[in-house]
Amino acid sequence: MTALDLLGDWKRTHYCGDLRASEADQEVVLMGWVHRRRDLGNLIFLDVRDRTGLAQVVFNKELAPAAHARAEELRSEFVAAVRGRVARRQKPNVELASGEVEVFASELRILNTAKTPPFVVEDEVNASEETRLRYRYLDLRRPRPRSNIALRHRVIFEIRKTLDALGFYEIETPMLTRSTPEGARDYLVPSRIHHGQFYALPQSPQIFKQILMISGMDRYFQIVRCFRDEDLRADRQPEFTQLDLEMSFPRQQDIFDVIEQVMVRACGAAEISVTPPFRHMEYREAIRRFGIDKPDMRFGMELHDVTPQFAGAREKMRIEGNVQALVAPGAASFSRKQLDELAEQAKGLGARGLYTVKVSTEGTSSQLEKTLGKEAVDAIVAATSAKVGDLIVAVSASEQIPGSDTAALIAGQLRLALAERLNLVPKDRWEFLWLTGFPLFEWGPSEKRWVPAQHPFTGIVESDVDKIESAPWEVRSKGYDLVLNGVELGSGSIRIHSQELQARIFRGLGMTEEQARQRFGFFLDALTYGTPPHGGIALGLDRVVALLAGEKSIREVIAFPKTTAAQDLMAEAPSAVDNDQLEALGIALADVKRNNV
Ligand code: AMO
Repeated sequence: MTALDLLGDWKRTHYCGDLRASEADQEVVLMGWVHRRRDLGNLIFLDVRDRTGLAQVVFNKELAPAAHARAEELRSEFVAAVRGRVARRQKPNVELASGEVEVFASELRILNTAKTPPFVVEDEVNASEETRLRYRYLDLRRPRPRSNIALRHRVIFEIRKTLDALGFYEIETPMLTRSTPEGARDYLVPSRIHHGQFYALPQSPQIFKQILMISGMDRYFQIVRCFRDEDLRADRQPEFTQLDLEMSFPRQQDIFDVIEQVMVRACGAAEISVTPPFRHMEYREAIRRFGIDKPDMRFGMELHDVTPQFAGAREKMRIEGNVQALVAPGAASFSRKQLDELAEQAKGLGARGLYTVKVSTEGTSSQLEKTLGKEAVDAIVAATSAKVGDLIVAVSASEQIPGSDTAALIAGQLRLALAERLNLVPKDRWEFLWLTGFPLFEWGPSEKRWVPAQHPFTGIVESDVDKIESAPWEVRSKGYDLVLNGVELGSGSIRIHSQELQARIFRGLGMTEEQARQRFGFFLDALTYGTPPHGGIALGLDRVVALLAGEKSIREVIAFPKTTAAQDLMAEAPSAVDNDQLEALGIALADVKRNNV
């Protein structure tokens, strides 16, 4: 057993990663974890790690025999304090920030031991994500997660500074509250004092921030945890963080201006420079050109409507709706197998048919020549401006949804997949885009009716109000999204501030007067006491940081994330609770096998 030393009155003088040649000949005290130890007999080399990086420490048996003897006891992840003198290295290590120097130790204190870690604390870990999350405290010692957490801090700090300068108040809203409709299931918290009653954890502070505008707070923001019980993916967590804000008397452009300033500063925290104003695009244009409501603008490959070119053979080919094409540059060399895979993928996305045209120096080759004729195929090439070496991919859809171009949506997904496969996505571009003119309703395939595309407080373009019953798909909302590189970073809207219109929307969503009063009575009341026009937005902070950090999953930028099965593997949550707790809450479990804790 290694005996432990006390920290005593030692004071750290430097972080390991901060040591430079300018510290040469100084006496320093470093504290951290044993990253690696190499024992060469008379010399022991130690890499000490703290949150800034590594420093090399040398124990020389002749110069400091006691410290050298003690260093023999060190193992990986032991906690150590070292006093010594900085010296320039004869051969600098260019891979280390502190690589110009090393520290010749005179004294060593071993502050704690450590069990052998289940994986090495380095970026190239060979551990599964499950093991990493179970031992998240070790995982966070690795450089990459550590720098992600540091970046997150800097981004949040910049957001706070920017919004403070713009006159926003940071105001906390309740965590124990009522259900807020954002389209997911609620996490419920049972009340001990009121048996049979439940708080809901907020899916967002939507209603509270609107009430803060009614309260005259004028400009509100919050870095706030939100809770949604929904199917998880790489970009979704059951609890996640929003930068939420709301303004009174805003024009849409005022909200955009604020967010653009915030994003410039947030990107600056990652040393990424972006220049406002960001581009704007209407929803319909996005669907028409890119087949998606969050277009990745880092590359082209826009869609081409080739419906007219298929006119002659629609019946024969059982085509309904539009046919949408895109050009995959240089993909004329795709093999039969690659084309089959593409067709399979298109089918999985709901395509009825996938038709391809290869353009080569010998002319075009396509199965369409038989069905459509050579002239129509040439017309497709002309319509898409495909060049020699390109592959034209066209799709039709198997199911038509009223008011929507299903073929375009499928082509939009193929566009993303093909661009990834053909390496057409530049990684160092930052293409922000404001999406506006969203439809108020979207077709709910499971509900088989029109359902609101955003939360029910979203304003409506005044000239479209009369189409609510006659042509619901044409009604535009006053909602907008902020998209970065094809990721929806945030969404918001100018809100409804008329109590009558808000009540009408609730009715339009199938709520009876009584149901609306029961769920939103307090809010409907508040709206009658002088509600200013207001609007706002919420950005998914985890998504912002993940993009800036170049991470694919938001789990990589959250200190203690949950798995896709919504579990915290380290704390082992969720967990069973004991009977006394349930009894106090007046809860009995039905048909659940429970392990008492
Ligand atoms: P919305 O529901 O679009 O809008 O959420 C805003 C942004 O929050 C992020 N987000 C998530 N991030 C991680 N995990 C999740 N489960 C998750 N769900 C959403 C996304 C999304 O764009 N109250 C409105 C905003 C408003 O109208 O002001 C709202 O919450 O980046």
